[in-house]
Amino acid sequence: MFADDDDRLLSGARLEDDIPADRSLRPEHFDDFVGQRKVVDNLRVFIEAARGRRESLDHVLLFGPPGLGKTTLAHIIGNEMGASVRVTAGPALEKAGDLAAILTNLEPGDILFIDEIHRLGNTVEEILYPAIEDYKLDLVIGQGPAARTMEIPLPRFTLVGATTRAGLITKPLHGRFGIVQRLDFYRPEELTEIIARSAALLDVSIAPEGARELASRSRGTPRIANRLLRRVRDFAQVQGAGDIDLAAARGALAQLEVDELGFDEIDRKILGTLIEHYGGGPAGLAALAAAVGEDRGTLEDLYEPFLIQEGFLQRTPRGRVATRRAYRHLGYESAGPGETRRLF
Ligand SMILES: Nc1ncnc2c1ncn2[C@@H]1O[C@H](COP(=O)(O)OP(=O)(O)OP(=O)(O)O)[C@@H](O)[C@H]1O
Ligand SMILES: [Mg+2]
Repeated sequence: MFADDDDRLLSGARLEDDIPADRSLRPEHFDDFVGQRKVVDNLRVFIEAARGRRESLDHVLLFGPPGLGKTTLAHIIGNEMGASVRVTAGPALEKAGDLAAILTNLEPGDILFIDEIHRLGNTVEEILYPAIEDYKLDLVIGQGPAARTMEIPLPRFTLVGATTRAGLITKPLHGRFGIVQRLDFYRPEELTEIIARSAALLDVSIAPEGARELASRSRGTPRIANRLLRRVRDFAQVQGAGDIDLAAARGALAQLEVDELGFDEIDRKILGTLIEHYGGGPAGLAALAAAVGEDRGTLEDLYEPFLIQEGFLQRTPRGRVATRRAYRHLGYESAGPGETRRLF
């Protein structure tokens, strides 16, 4: 039904279709931001302390799977600090000059948000070190023996970096962030609250049971919850009375082929491969990645965390192992090691 991996209904990654909703539904202050209590509480303290000292906030690194609120938090930090947020992303900063241009245009106290910060090139990253450590820019002018460095002072600013791939951030860069926070998948109650909030903003009428049903299938991810809400709203509007009650939610989700845990094709493929080809495991990450046709980093950072958190997959020293829960959910009956039989 969906053209390719980049266009999946249950992908946490942002699809073209999400862009307007991501903006309009994005909470602007901590008070509207649901869940991630620890991260929010910590950030509130750091922000209040920095404001009390009339200083810029320490540099912040936010990491975690796609769609959990990293960009949202970067903007909230700006709002709570009363600072402007300049937005850019790793892949957009190709040359050292691209970053230098942004840095020299910052005002004191500004927030510089660099999304996908794991994708900065070496030369760009080297410009960033003195900028965030000593608030200066070391520019090399000229080439060869005639080259000299010029030091340009920068205003005090706060770098907020976001990444889904914390493992790919270089040590020296990681070490320069004073505040490092990891976002986790949301609990169903939290997603229910997010869906209710989004429904109110979109002027959609949804019953609490309907919201709970969507929440339980959103794989812990607000972006997916909002996306399912928009799609289910279409079904309710065209095929029903417009209200999303439990029956309407279930009917629409069935038509959208969203299973009751929010599993998608790739989840099923990962677990199915592990069970059918590796007798449930252990299987090495590289072998499993090759078997499902994904790159190993993508598998490790984007697909496995949800399966591990939900208890379908375990990482052991000898490799990945499918749990009983995985067998059950996929309809397998374990008939002994290396031997499995499909139940339905
Ligand atoms: N805690 C939250 N409360 C309410 N809504 C949220 C929350 N977190 C995220 N959202 C919603 O989910 C959408 C996606 O969040 P956001 O763009 O911040 O994710 P992200 O972590 O930056 O994703 P990516 O890794 O793809 O950049 C937001 O537009 C917002 O509507
Ligand atoms: Mg983002």
